[in-house]
Amino acid sequence: MNRLFKASVIENREIKKDHYLLTLHPSEKIRQPEPGNFFMLSVDSGLDPLLKRPFSIHRRIGSDFQVLYRVVGRGTGLLSRRKPGDLLDVTGPLGNKFPVTKTQDKIFLIAGGVGIAPIFSLAEKLKKNKPLLFYGAMTKEELLCIDELKSLGIEPVISTDDGSSGKKGNIVNVLRNFLASDSVGAIHESPLHLTRYSLYACGPKPMLIALSQLAVKYDFKGYMALEQNMACGLGTCLGCVVNTKKGYKRVCKEGPVFKIEEIVWEDDSVPKKS
Ligand SMILES: Cc1cc2nc3c(=O)[nH]c(=O)nc-3n(C[C@H](O)[C@H](O)[C@H](O)COP(=O)(O)OP(=O)(O)OC[C@H]3O[C@@H](n4cnc5c(N)ncnc54)[C@H](O)[C@@H]3O)c2cc1C
Ligand code: FES
Repeated sequence: MNRLFKASVIENREIKKDHYLLTLHPSEKIRQPEPGNFFMLSVDSGLDPLLKRPFSIHRRIGSDFQVLYRVVGRGTGLLSRRKPGDLLDVTGPLGNKFPVTKTQDKIFLIAGGVGIAPIFSLAEKLKKNKPLLFYGAMTKEELLCIDELKSLGIEPVISTDDGSSGKKGNIVNVLRNFLASDSVGAIHESPLHLTRYSLYACGPKPMLIALSQLAVKYDFKGYMALEQNMACGLGTCLGCVVNTKKGYKRVCKEGPVFKIEEIVWEDDSVPKKS
């Protein structure tokens, strides 16, 4: 099946300030994207900008698919001006997916900002497992998909930096306090614990670093989807590498989903469990 295809814009709607939900209809049959996969999208019709931009699969609707994006620069600004009927060049689905095993007992989903885009698709897939979803944003205005999450039967634990919705502060601290006060943390610190807990996360780098530290403390296993600047998206330019315990890996090819304990954060050190 071809990974290079054209897709027409069905809808490109601003759902919150600077945040858009784009629905695309592929012009041919494509491989069904899985949570964690991403697409490279041309943001304008000409050759400028030349490079496509990467976006996670947010939702599948029949043969159509949606991406949820935040306008942060020129490319996403141009994308926000695409209208229904416009054609985009698309490559994908690309990258690996969030691995899910049937034996998982309790699942924590953690999203920061527009990191909810791939986490939502995973929540949709895992809704029967009744995951606990922790979702942080800078302000109430930047919280996305809350009604849609509720319609999946998921009541997210929310935090905002300014306290305008949910708990005030960052979402990893909220999760840390939850674990400290809840039996989950106590059980997990016991050598006899039998229940397995898994984390799945996507969000800004400081959030992922803090989460890695928490995962070490509780010996939680899990996965996170990383975002890096990308040029080719196909594994050839090496522009997207991250340092891991097994050497440098390409986010577009070996990722974007990595085991939490695998990543070596260069500007911070994640303590080892003593
Ligand atoms: C696998 C993957 C999945 C992604 N999924 C989504 C998504 O679902 N929704 C969404 O809103 N964004 C997503 N991103 C980020 C998105 O690709 C960037 O925001 C976009 O490429 C910025 O393009 P621009 O031309 O508007 O910004 P630019 O003008 O190129 O840059 C503006 C700012 O954004 C930063 N930036 C640029 N590219 C990236 C990037 N790839 N990742 C992180 N920061 C970047 C730059 O460092 C700069 O600070 C994803 C990135 C990756 C790698
Ligand atoms: S973007 Fe070129 S190797 Fe990943």
